[in-house]
Amino acid sequence: MIMKKIDISARINGIQLSSCIMNASGALCTTGQELSDLLDSSSGAIVTKSCTRQPRKGNIKPRYFEWNVGSINSMGLPNLGIDFYLNFLEEKKTKKPVFLSISGLSIEEIFFLLKKANFSSKITAIELNLSCPNLQEEILGYDLYKIYDFLENVFKFNEKPLGIKLPPYFKEEYIKNMSLILNQFPIVFVTCINSLPNGIFVDPRNETSVIQPRNGFGGIGGSIIKPFALANIRKFYTYLRKDISIIGCGGISYGKDIFEHILCGASAVQIGTQLMKEGISVFERLKKEFTLFLQKKNYSSINSFKGKLKNLQ
Ligand code: DHB
Repeated sequence: MIMKKIDISARINGIQLSSCIMNASGALCTTGQELSDLLDSSSGAIVTKSCTRQPRKGNIKPRYFEWNVGSINSMGLPNLGIDFYLNFLEEKKTKKPVFLSISGLSIEEIFFLLKKANFSSKITAIELNLSCPNLQEEILGYDLYKIYDFLENVFKFNEKPLGIKLPPYFKEEYIKNMSLILNQFPIVFVTCINSLPNGIFVDPRNETSVIQPRNGFGGIGGSIIKPFALANIRKFYTYLRKDISIIGCGGISYGKDIFEHILCGASAVQIGTQLMKEGISVFERLKKEFTLFLQKKNYSSINSFKGKLKNLQ
């Protein structure tokens, strides 16, 4: 039997990835060692931990917990500060696309970070995180009025490929209106979705919550959030300009989950909770599983099924 070559490379607007699978920001991408391991892995790109102007220790521990189908976190943006990430990337020679994730604590800080990132030749694109669920400030991604003004100011100076990490939306109206705003700007991609904000996991034996910060409330990730990720990807795919790519994030544990994300409209995918659970070897396993899945389906590349989810007739 002649085997067709399966191509799982991806394009995010102009950015070429050798594999459509990368890490999600926050998962094993904070320290130099973690980033080096990601660079050496078979992922198609790397995303850095969302950074701030100054280094941050983050919230009190325990601040991350996982169970069979999910995870909860209230990390509080522990990161080494933007200068660390820019310097680290200066020193590394890599062909792998690098997405610098940025998450300021105020609008002013975000502008500062964006301007700094614009001066670095080592980053391929910026993933602007407008959806961190663990800070006192509201989630900017939920404030459509502020976002329009904000983006207008960003694109007065920004020249780097820029994508936005979005929170999950639970109403079509929100996704439609958000798309109407995003479509007016030269945005390159959106990442759907960040963790579901304000969940709680209870340990019934101890009668406690399982993470310490914010009385146990935190962002929920893992396979239980996959239906929400898929729904957001699907809706954004129908409303966004076709040259804005979607990076799917949320609930990918197996190769078939990647297929589902792409079928709903994603051009590439990110792995968060499963990377935390399994470590760096997750990329090899997922690549194998996804390739085998496509082979069985007789698809030879992503573009043959991207966005083509059918309605049940
Ligand atoms: C953190 C969590 C997030 O989901 C995010 O998008 C940014 C930061 C955190 O708590 O560190």
